[in-house]
Formats: sequence, C-alpha cells, structure tokens
Amino acid sequence: MLSYLHAFHAGNHADVLKHCVLTLVLEYMARKDKPFLYIDTHAGAGRYDLRNDRAAKIREYDTGIGRIWHRDADAPPAMQRYLQLLRALNPSGELRHYPGSPWIAQSLLRAQDRARLFELHPAEYQQLRALFAGNRQFRVEQGDGFQALGALLPPAERRAVILVDPSYEVKTDYPDVLAAITAAQRKFSTGVYLVWYPVLTRKQASRLASDFTRSGMRNILLAELTIHADTQHAGMTGSGMILVNPPWQLAEALQSVLPYLQQKLAGEGGKYRVQQLVEQ
Ligand SMILES: C[S@@+](CC[C@H](N)C(=O)[O-])C[C@H]1O[C@@H](n2cnc3c(N)ncnc32)[C@H](O)[C@@H]1O
Repeated sequence: MLSYLHAFHAGNHADVLKHCVLTLVLEYMARKDKPFLYIDTHAGAGRYDLRNDRAAKIREYDTGIGRIWHRDADAPPAMQRYLQLLRALNPSGELRHYPGSPWIAQSLLRAQDRARLFELHPAEYQQLRALFAGNRQFRVEQGDGFQALGALLPPAERRAVILVDPSYEVKTDYPDVLAAITAAQRKFSTGVYLVWYPVLTRKQASRLASDFTRSGMRNILLAELTIHADTQHAGMTGSGMILVNPPWQLAEALQSVLPYLQQKLAGEGGKYRVQQLVEQ
C-alpha cells in the first residue's frame, strides 16, 4: 500500500537538507570531465507546485524553504548552487515551485551524464514521466527502486551517485535501505551512496546509523539536522543523510551549511551534526 505523497511535504526542512547535500555532491561529481550515472531509487513526482492543494494544505514549506527564500543574503557559498537552482525555477521571485531530487539532477547533469529514476506510486510515476517526456538522458521507470538497483551496477561509466530516499511509511524500509546499499556496494564499491532518513524517534535513527557503522563499509559520513529536541511522541523532529564514499570536500562544505540551516530552520532544542561514522 502506497499512501505517502511527497507533495504534502515538498520544501520542508528535510527536503532543504537533502537537496542541499544532493546539489553539493552532484556539483563535486561534475568537476571531473568523466561522465557519471545518477540513480534515484525513490524519485517522487520530480517537481512540486506549492500552490497545489496538497502542498498548500499543510504548508510545510513555510518552515522549510520559506524561511530561507528572500532571506538568503547571508547563506554560505556552499549553498549558492542550490539557491540559484530555486531562483531559476521561480523566475518571478514568488516561491511557487519546489524541485524534487530528479529536477535537481536535471539541472546539474552534463551532456555526458545519464540518469535512471524509479518510482512505484502510479500517479507520482505518471507526473515524473510527463516531466521527463522526450528527455533521452533521463530514463524513468515505474518499479521498486530497491530491487532495480543491483542490476544497474557497476555502471559502464564507473562513476555513479545513488540517492536512496524512501518515505519510511513501511518499517521494512529501514532494513531494506541497509540491505540494498550493502548489496550494491559489493557490486560497485566506489559508488557515492546517499541515504536519507527521518528522525521520528531517536532510537530508530540511531539504529540505522549504527547498522551502517557495523556493516563493514568504509568511509561513511553522517549529516543530521533536528529542528526540535528528540521526543518519544510521533512526528518528525529532524532528518539526516548517511553518505558512503562522499566527495572529499563535502564534510567541510557541510560544516558551513548545517549551522546555517540550524540557525534558519531549527527551534529551541534543534541541533546539527556532521560526523564521520567510519573512516576511509
Ligand atoms: C520521499 S519521496 C521521494 C522524494 C524525492 N526523492 C525528492 O527528493 O524529491 C519517496 C517516494 O518513494 C516512492 N516509493 C515508495 N516505495 C518505493 C519503492 N520500493 N521503489 C520506488 N519508489 C518507491 C513513494 O511513492 C514516494 O514518491
């Protein structure tokens, strides 16, 4: 059963963190001429209209990108590409559209790169497919991204960024994430793997991080932003990214981005951390 629709959450604090990290990683990858493959296992609809009924209903973007839009004069250099991309998507100056991860990739991939996008939800898939209709560089498929991943690796390019961004609406997403990345890493050890996770309870988030730490994989970085103190009650208090083989400059860049996001997005009790979980 798929009930999660990302349109309700587009542009919230978790999207801002995830998309700043994704933008930076793709920027670093594009510094070398050699082509790379981008894989998005849980792609969503690709791009969101914030005036759409869903986004407008709970306006999560108000406490996410809405707190930065037009108030970004003090944003660190490492956030400039992400902000540029948002401005290009909203040329009138009004915050109307918010990019999903596929749109961000489309803005940053070069002619020599290619992308494979997977989405399971029929309506989300239709939107994504329409967005990339006629685009030969981006191949969109309706399917299970966890299952599809293995067959794509190792890529012919020998360079790849893999975003794994489930909604965690089913508890099996936690073990599935670890299993998918572990298996993928065995086939392609030098891939750059990015996993998003929510902080719903501290216990769950810590377990995922410690499972990665104990997995045997090397070079794992964690970047997390909580906007409220941890709670035992239901509700997302923050989110994080676990990165396997991050580009070498990334940790330093995130040391400037996360304090800025904390200052703009977090309330009392909110925190950030950028931590190397496992050394190279
Ligand atoms: C958090 S959203 C993705 C957001 C997107 N990556 C972004 O940053 O814009 C998660 C998406 O995964 C889809 N989904 C859930 N299970 C899936 C699976 N096993 N394979 C592919 N897509 C799945 C959901 O329908 C939902 O659209």
